[in-house]
Amino acid sequence: MGGSPGKARLTVRPMRLGDLDEVMLIERRSFSAPWEESTFRGLMRRPSAALLVAEIDDELTGYSVMWFVADEGELGNVAVLPERRGEGIGRTLLRESIAVAASRGTRSLYLEVRESNEVARGLYEKVGFNVVGVRKQYYTEPVEDATVMKLEVQAVVR
Ligand SMILES: CC(C)(COP(=O)(O)OP(=O)(O)OC[C@H]1O[C@@H](n2cnc3c(N)ncnc32)[C@H](O)[C@@H]1OP(=O)(O)O)[C@@H](O)C(=O)NCCC(=O)NCCS
Repeated sequence: MGGSPGKARLTVRPMRLGDLDEVMLIERRSFSAPWEESTFRGLMRRPSAALLVAEIDDELTGYSVMWFVADEGELGNVAVLPERRGEGIGRTLLRESIAVAASRGTRSLYLEVRESNEVARGLYEKVGFNVVGVRKQYYTEPVEDATVMKLEVQAVVR
């Protein structure tokens, strides 16, 4: 607990409206077809959604977005500040997201990822997602198929 004085600490907490400027900077730097800010705002109003941010000290370094329907969930977005990638932030965000999904009674968590996004696919596999299908030409800018992945939440949450 706590870490040594002066050591950067990674924490994950619910997203707040005051985070949206920083979230949008990361969103625009991470995706060729970024979400609008209104999409985040709309989801933040929905009790059936969960939006999390990762912080190192006071710096917002990443976020995840999920929504839930009955016992299924969708991981709709995850991104890490480009300068802070490869430090384990994405993995921590996903683990925390999965724990939140479990606490909401989610049994199966789904996501879509660009077929060419090997970094994200590698991370998803490491936390327990498996490929279950393909959605043809799901993405624009550029047009690309989506790989559909699924995680059995109870299998990875103790
Ligand atoms: C995908 C993303 C969220 C990963 O976040 P991250 O903080 O860099 O990930 P982590 O540091 O936790 O890395 C976890 C795993 O990801 C993979 N990974 C991370 N950086 C990688 C790199 N440069 N090359 C290859 N694999 C990499 C590895 O499997 C890594 O596991 P390891 O540490 O055991 O090698 C981040 O790269 C990102 O924001 N990408 C742009 C947005 C995006 O594509 N989001 C997903 C949309 S579906």
